[in-house]
Amino acid sequence: MSLLFEPLQIGRLALANRIVIAPMCQYSAVEGTPGDWHMIHLGHLALSGAGLLVVEATAVSAEGRITPGDLGLYSDANEAGLARILKAIRTHAPIAVAMQLAHAGRKASSRAPWEGGAQIPSGAPDGWKAEAPSALPHAAGEEPPQPLDSAGLERVRAAFVQAAQRAVRLGIDGLEIHAAHGYLLHQFLSPLANRREDRYGGSLESRMRFPLEVFDAVRAACPAELPVWVRVSATDWVPDGWDIDGTVAFAHALKARGCAAIHVSSGGVSPMQKIPVGPGYQVPYAARVKAEVGLPTIAVGLITEPDQAESIIAQGEADAVCLARAMLYDPRWPWHAAARLGARVSAPKQYWRSQPREFKDLFEGAKTGQR
Ligand SMILES: Cc1cc2nc3c(=O)[nH]c(=O)nc-3n(C[C@H](O)[C@H](O)[C@H](O)COP(=O)(O)O)c2cc1C
Repeated sequence: MSLLFEPLQIGRLALANRIVIAPMCQYSAVEGTPGDWHMIHLGHLALSGAGLLVVEATAVSAEGRITPGDLGLYSDANEAGLARILKAIRTHAPIAVAMQLAHAGRKASSRAPWEGGAQIPSGAPDGWKAEAPSALPHAAGEEPPQPLDSAGLERVRAAFVQAAQRAVRLGIDGLEIHAAHGYLLHQFLSPLANRREDRYGGSLESRMRFPLEVFDAVRAACPAELPVWVRVSATDWVPDGWDIDGTVAFAHALKARGCAAIHVSSGGVSPMQKIPVGPGYQVPYAARVKAEVGLPTIAVGLITEPDQAESIIAQGEADAVCLARAMLYDPRWPWHAAARLGARVSAPKQYWRSQPREFKDLFEGAKTGQR
């Protein structure tokens, strides 16, 4: 029996298995609105047999986009574009779909990776002034962001709430709040990015205040049955930066507020980071959060092999595994994992005839007949 293919409960959301497709920016939206690329991209990932598809970082405001091409959920056009895609997915795939609500903070106004990823100056036609906890740029020599004053903080909180309300209208199955990878909420948590002297900076408790306020506001805006959870960076990988002790404290505080799960990533706040990248390199952080906090925990980062994924679940290091690059490389990864682990997986009936002869019971409910 494969434990990877056992169902998982995240709050009141039941997942068919423990494979999560990671949020992955596509930098291909227009004014935040998804188009045919998203239909193709999310459409084929939705047919993968994974238990949960997390839509890419979705900006809660235009200023909160990383690049001009980021997906957003701040306008009626954004909402209509996503409604079209979700309707198609719902028609053809049983997968649960969550959305990652995000604000880029000081990493906003950037070029897409395939254009080099540099900061776009705020005076450029396609650039804008980034906003952040403090007037500290992400990298030396970059244009500093505008520190958020109390009206700005209220505006950002409200933007998260409005985006969450739109997501609820779209019938989304779960919401992940992006507090990782050096974006706005992580910038509040990290002493490397947050030098505020008001109640939102300084002590751990004060640095956690704004991310927790955003969580509370989003949680309160959603129906009780909709799980809301948070993606965190467990460490900045920089001395004196945000670390795993802070992450455990943050996760405890989130749990007390009704957070449904924790998704444990790392890094992103500083170009000084030194990451010992290797297979499953972030899993020990997920394991510690799971052991100490007890929330359903999702591990991510160079999880590429079915046996590796199975072992992470079997050892109790995490409750679910999340894959990004491996899913782009092989969107049928869950099928291959099920075959490898002797499990069954959902596949569209149109593809049932592809079931390999040596895996006669791979696709749930598969039957074929012809005259
Ligand atoms: C193309 C691409 C886009 C990404 N976009 C996001 C994103 O929107 N939100 C996020 O939290 N992480 C994003 N990430 C990070 C992944 O979700 C994941 O944490 C990271 O790639 C490590 O997992 P992997 O080793 O399975 O790729 C992205 C990664 C890739 C490769």
